[in-house]
Amino acid sequence: MKTKHYFIQTFGCQMNIHDSEKIAGMLKKIGYEETQDKAEASIIVFNTCCIRESAELKIMAKIGDIKALKKANKDLIVVVCGCMTQQKGMPENLKKKFPFINIIIGTHNLEELENYVLKYEQTHKSFNEIWETEKEVKEQTPTFRTSKFNAWVNIMYGCNNFCTYCIVPYVRGRERSRKVEDIKKEVEELVKTNKYKTITLLGQNVNSYGKDFNDGKTNFVYLLKELCSIPGDFRIKFMTSHPKDFSLELIDFISSNNKMSKSIHLPVQSGSNNILKIMNRRYTVEHYKNLIDEIKNKIPNASITTDIIVGFPGETDEDFLQTCELLKYCNYNGVFGFVYSKRKGTPAEKFENQIPINIKRERITKLFEIQHKIVKELTDRLVGQTIEVLLEEKIKDCYIAKTDGGKTIKIKSENNLILGNYYNIKIKKALTNDLIGEII
Ligand code: SAH
Ligand code: SF4
Ligand code: F3S
Repeated sequence: MKTKHYFIQTFGCQMNIHDSEKIAGMLKKIGYEETQDKAEASIIVFNTCCIRESAELKIMAKIGDIKALKKANKDLIVVVCGCMTQQKGMPENLKKKFPFINIIIGTHNLEELENYVLKYEQTHKSFNEIWETEKEVKEQTPTFRTSKFNAWVNIMYGCNNFCTYCIVPYVRGRERSRKVEDIKKEVEELVKTNKYKTITLLGQNVNSYGKDFNDGKTNFVYLLKELCSIPGDFRIKFMTSHPKDFSLELIDFISSNNKMSKSIHLPVQSGSNNILKIMNRRYTVEHYKNLIDEIKNKIPNASITTDIIVGFPGETDEDFLQTCELLKYCNYNGVFGFVYSKRKGTPAEKFENQIPINIKRERITKLFEIQHKIVKELTDRLVGQTIEVLLEEKIKDCYIAKTDGGKTIKIKSENNLILGNYYNIKIKKALTNDLIGEII
């Protein structure tokens, strides 16, 4: 029998990248093999994102692109899933625009995908199946991991925060934590393979892990302690944190445990208290700065990154200036900056004083200029320092690693070093794009 192939196109965050590993796992289970060539595929899955309008437009264009393929191959199965489809009215919209789509499912029934595909194979009847609300956490979904040394592990799903700009709580449902035992078992198995050196724990707000158990014991630090007790040479990272729930206990734990990665992503969104308030972020700039001070005091080699939204409705020049000031105060190793995008059904969609696109663009350009300078200074300061890095690849006689802030380090060595192991590197030189390091 001819081999059936799958092609998955993923958009959005790490959560979605990991969901695609589950999609791959399920498709393999029912007899499909991976292909990187769309033209060879018997099934194409679009795993979508709707965090900003730009994401949706890009996805629409990509779905439109396969019209010809579907025309040439009537048996091709086209699936659309992920956050975009979970929005009200979207499945109908998609179907109207692209009648050739065969299966549309939402985020809450992703784990059922294999059954839906089997059903379609038998009936050849297209359908949409969206569940309105989340169900209990489902364990044991087969996963085909595509990452090299890093393994993604969900610790919780959904979000209860309802920041006024954000679509995620509407498309991913309420917070549900996985049980400590289930997470621990998964991490133990990953570490045992000796392949994964970084375990990245995933959740929309990992700091509220375990709150839904209401047992007075389980929280995020409790989980981290359990995971760090697993023997082996690996590091634990996590994303994403919310400043309102990021505890001092967590900072102490990161500083004291050498399995904990020292890179911390702490999205602030804005440096203005007025804006934070109407974003419903529920912390102040002062609270945030205290956290940053505490992190820098207790974890001197911490690498801190953040997310910023510019052009939120009502953001004045003064509010924006305060964001620029905060950037300088925090000296971030990296900033993910976004232009505010109106999302249907969120409170901010209806806010007055929406900011014109030219001002949004000016602000994001300014933001990146400031951040660029900060990163340059931080990188220059690394020269002469020794840092621990994971060797990721070898190109000719040069090993490649990354700093916590994401800068590439090139290391020439005659020694036979092992990819996927941690080494201490002395930074010798900072070039415009890369750093030059030496094994010590
Ligand atoms: N749960 C995470 C990540 C959410 S999405 C968190 O709370 O940080 C990732 C980032 O996208 C957010 O941090 C925010 O900076 C950005 N974002 C979310 N909604 C947006 C919108 N409507 N317009 C522009 N950026 C947005
Ligand atoms: Fe969106 Fe806020 Fe939840 Fe993050 S914490 S997913 S920004 S609502
Ligand atoms: Fe992620 Fe996009 Fe959904 S950022 S949670 S895939 S809306």
